[in-house]
Parts: sequence; C-alpha cells; structure tokens
Amino acid sequence: MAEPLVLAEKLEGGVGLLRLNRPQVLNALNTALMKELAEKVREMEADPEIGCLVLMGNGRAFAAGADIQEMAEKSPVDMELSEPFSSWDAIYRCKKPIIAAVHGYALGGGLELAMMCDIIVAAEDAKLGQPEIKLGVIPGAGGTQRLPRAVGKAAAMEMVLTGEPISAERAFQLGLVSKVVAPEVLLEEALKLARSIAEKPRVAVRMAKEAILAAFETPLSEGLRFERRAFYFLFASEDQKEGMKAFMERRPPRFKGR
Ligand code: CAA
Repeated sequence: MAEPLVLAEKLEGGVGLLRLNRPQVLNALNTALMKELAEKVREMEADPEIGCLVLMGNGRAFAAGADIQEMAEKSPVDMELSEPFSSWDAIYRCKKPIIAAVHGYALGGGLELAMMCDIIVAAEDAKLGQPEIKLGVIPGAGGTQRLPRAVGKAAAMEMVLTGEPISAERAFQLGLVSKVVAPEVLLEEALKLARSIAEKPRVAVRMAKEAILAAFETPLSEGLRFERRAFYFLFASEDQKEGMKAFMERRPPRFKGR
C-alpha cells in the first residue's frame, strides 16, 4: 500500500499531530495531499478527545508550495472545474486551534497553509515566502490577503512582489510567527503549546478563536459586539462556573469541556 500523504497521530494531552508526507518533493501540496489533509483535519475536529492540532512537514521542509508539476499545464477552465483550493477551506474553517510548526521551506501555498492555521511556531532554519511572482502568477490560496493582515502592507508587498523569502527571525519581528526555536526542539515546543491550549476549557477556546478571527472580517463595532455576546454566552458553560469557583476556592479547576 502507498504511504499516506498525511500522517495522523493522536497524542497524550488532547493533541492531534498531522504531518505532511511527501518529503521527496518538499511536501509539495498536490490535490490528493490536500484532500487527505482536509479529511484528517475534519476527523480531528470531530474527535472529542482532541483539543488542539499541530501541523508540520516531514523531511527537510514544511511545504515548498502548491505542486507546480500538477498545475503547470492547466487551463483556467481546468482550474475552475477542479477547484484545487476548495479542499484547503477545511483548514481555516476548523473550530479547533491549529498550530503550524514550520521548518525549512514554507513557500507559496506552504506559507499560505501555515497562515490558515492559528499560530505559527518556526524553527531557526525556516524560510518563509511567497515566490509565486517568479512563476508568473500570484499567491492563490490567501497570501495576498492573510500576509498583509499579518505583517502589514509594506512587508507583504516586498515579499509578494520580489518573491524573496524571509528568515524565521525576520518573520518573528514582523509578527508572522509567534516563536522561533531551535530545529531540534520545534516539535516539542509546538506540542507543549498545543497541550497548554488543549487543557483549557474547550468552549471558551472555540469562542476565543472565533472572536479573534472575527477581528479580520468585521468592522470594530461589530467585532466588539460579537466579543461581548460570546463573553456573556460563556456564562452558560459548566467550565465558566467551575473556573471561577476554583479560583475563589484557591484550587486548580477541573474542566469538562462543556
Ligand atoms: N512543486 C512540485 N515539486 C516541487 C516543489 C513544488 N512547489 N518544490 C520542490 N519540488 C520538488 C523539486 O522539483 C525536486 O524534485 P526532483 O528531485 O524530482 O527534481 C524536489 O522537490 C526537491 O527540490 P529541489 O531539488 O528544488 O530542492 P532545493 O533545495 O534545490 O530547492 C526550493 C528548494 C528553493 C524550495 C525549490 O524547490 C523551489 O524553489 N521550489 C518551488 C517553490 C515555489 O515556487 N513555490 C510556490 C508554488 S506555487 C503556489 O504555491 C501557488 C499558491 O499560491 C497556492
């Protein structure tokens, strides 16, 4: 049987680990891999034991982009009818947080995939970029929209118009990644972060993610209204009662995820 294109593992502490598995082509994101990734993300999203996902690449890269070989000869009609990016929607629609643990190359669709996740942790050797301009196209899976929201207009323009990648350190300065770590501890650090999220009250985590994402979609007044409603709504959860009671009784909370 062929190797799965995405390896999925359920780890202790409520964490689901997904690994892109086409290392021979630097995890180039072809249609089959992205379909498999979408399915596995949906499975983990539905799994009540999992509270947070980690996504990383096998081999020497996170992902060097959409599969150029697969796309090169396509016509616009082929692209429209096959909708190569529609399966990618499952990643950013996932209600549970996803941490991208990025090492080596995160280029083109690879960086766009990482930006669909909620947090990016980078290894010191990571190179992040949108090189599509060098191929005669532009980013097509969110790069022109998510990158300027993450790093601002000037840096996004520079990256997209020159196609030159930036280092992990520069990505950290720009706020694109939340943490830079040594390559040998990348997975460990990402899992630590994931476990810390997975042990938090699940309904509040969902609401917090939704509220932060709303900041990118709505005017401030609507975002603030959404946040306030979500805050009030959480008083219906058992975990809010437990969390506040435990604080007052000076003991650790026992959250149920409800
Ligand atoms: N698609 C298909 N195959 C790819 C690939 C990609 N995006 N990136 C790398 N590969 C393949 C290479 O063809 C090579 O395969 P072979 O051994 O069969 O020749 C293998 O992966 C290893 O790559 P290299 O030999 O090129 O490795 P390198 O270390 O010399 O260079 C690299 C690494 C700089 C990342 C280089 O591979 C590269 O520039 N890759 C393409 C990056 C790119 O342009 N990405 C954007 C794609 S378009 C896109 O993503 C659109 C979108 O918005 C969704």
